[in-house]
Amino acid sequence: MSLGLGVALPSGAQTDKAAGGVAATAGNARNAVYAERFRTVCAACHGGDGRSEMAGTPVLAGQHSLYAITQLFLFREGRRSNEAMVGLAKQMKDADLRGFSDFIGTLAPVPAPAPAMPLDAARMKRGQVLAQEHKCVFCHGAELDGGQGVPRIGGQKEDYVLMTLQGYKSGERPAYTRAMPEALSQVPTADLDLLAYYVANFSSK
Ligand code: HEC
Ligand code: HEC
Repeated sequence: MSLGLGVALPSGAQTDKAAGGVAATAGNARNAVYAERFRTVCAACHGGDGRSEMAGTPVLAGQHSLYAITQLFLFREGRRSNEAMVGLAKQMKDADLRGFSDFIGTLAPVPAPAPAMPLDAARMKRGQVLAQEHKCVFCHGAELDGGQGVPRIGGQKEDYVLMTLQGYKSGERPAYTRAMPEALSQVPTADLDLLAYYVANFSSK
């Protein structure tokens, strides 16, 4: 995938491994720098472990670095809108997009806290049927954990998932590829909340 970033896309960690011990040390040092910048700049909204407690703010824990870099790129170019994120991304050089994304890729998945109310089994079932019918699992995986440029969505926050599905459907959130607008083209807008409910409460148990 070409991002027009002027940077090779295999993660820094992989490149460093191939280049041997010295480069790996440089990679670790760089990751420490972005870990610290994440803690001071990003954690206030996204949480220190990447599971945000703020409304409308996505979980980054367990997210893939290639997906993260495409989104930071879209924010920087002003193609994905959010005042805070666009403001931050506009100050980032390509190396910062890489550094933050590689760091995000190291954040282990953090399971969602137990729901306040017992799950509505009928809604979960309807959401699951929709997810199968519209092939969400085909790209996001049976565990909804994604991979590479496809985001992990299982356990993502419900309010955020609903907002983002509505955004793709209306065209307000431009995707990096045509995958999502096409996947949602046959899903009635009224059913998006069922998908969001299912995805957010999904657990592989
Ligand atoms: C003021 C709160 C705030 C701060 C600070 C912040 N973010 Fe965000 N971030 C958000 C919100 C809200 C969204 C969702 C935007 C939307 O789609 O409306 C988001 C989205 C993202 C996404 C896309 C996630 C996805 O699932 O698509 C990434 C990646 C991200 N932020 C990384 C960062 C990084 C790296 C930093 C620090 C440099 C940072 N954020 C700082 C609020 C914040
Ligand atoms: C053909 C592959 C494909 C299919 C099918 C697909 N997706 Fe996606 N999905 C993607 C890709 C790729 C992205 C990253 C979006 C981009 O290009 O910026 C994404 C993004 C998302 C996001 C945004 C995650 C975030 O953190 O912001 C959600 C939510 C989502 N998909 C849910 C779904 C649901 C629900 C379905 C089924 C109706 C579905 N997807 C079907 C490939 C797919």
